[in-house]
Amino acid sequence: MAASAFKTANATWHLIGETSPSLESSDQYEALLEAARLIRKNAYAPYSQFQVGAAVLMDGEIYSGCNVENASYGATICAERSAILSGVANGARAIDALALTTGPEPGTPLDQRSPCGVCRQVISEFAEDHTPILIDAGDGAAYAGEIVALGHLLPWRFNL
Ligand code: THU
Repeated sequence: MAASAFKTANATWHLIGETSPSLESSDQYEALLEAARLIRKNAYAPYSQFQVGAAVLMDGEIYSGCNVENASYGATICAERSAILSGVANGARAIDALALTTGPEPGTPLDQRSPCGVCRQVISEFAEDHTPILIDAGDGAAYAGEIVALGHLLPWRFNL
């Protein structure tokens, strides 16, 4: 799908899918990406060496999280779920936007920087089809990252 450009104060993004970024939250997109990049430094990834950071804007507050791996492998938690669970535990319920960074080299393909399927479903629990997911393109890339609609990442998402 073709991407169109979307500008915030100091950055240009590539918009993919039907997002409806509200101006209020788009003011915070750059802060959200910075928060994700910052917390990525705390990632605990001794098994994969793949550090991930995420920051989520929920009910107007930023919550962040990193991946925390486990010797059992299966007990590993991803950065996105770590961030969302922190928001929910603090009483927040609605995701306005989520930013994710894998600390990519500029030019890394989008499929190597995107949220995993389990995290897409967990994002979905607290978000809408149009909720923007910000995916870091890497420090020094020509644009800050992609802004992808959740409904584009997870079409026909399961809801009760
Ligand atoms: N990981 C995340 O934190 N988020 C994703 O969406 C993809 C994968 C983590 C899990 C594991 O610690 C490492 O990246 C390699 O899969």
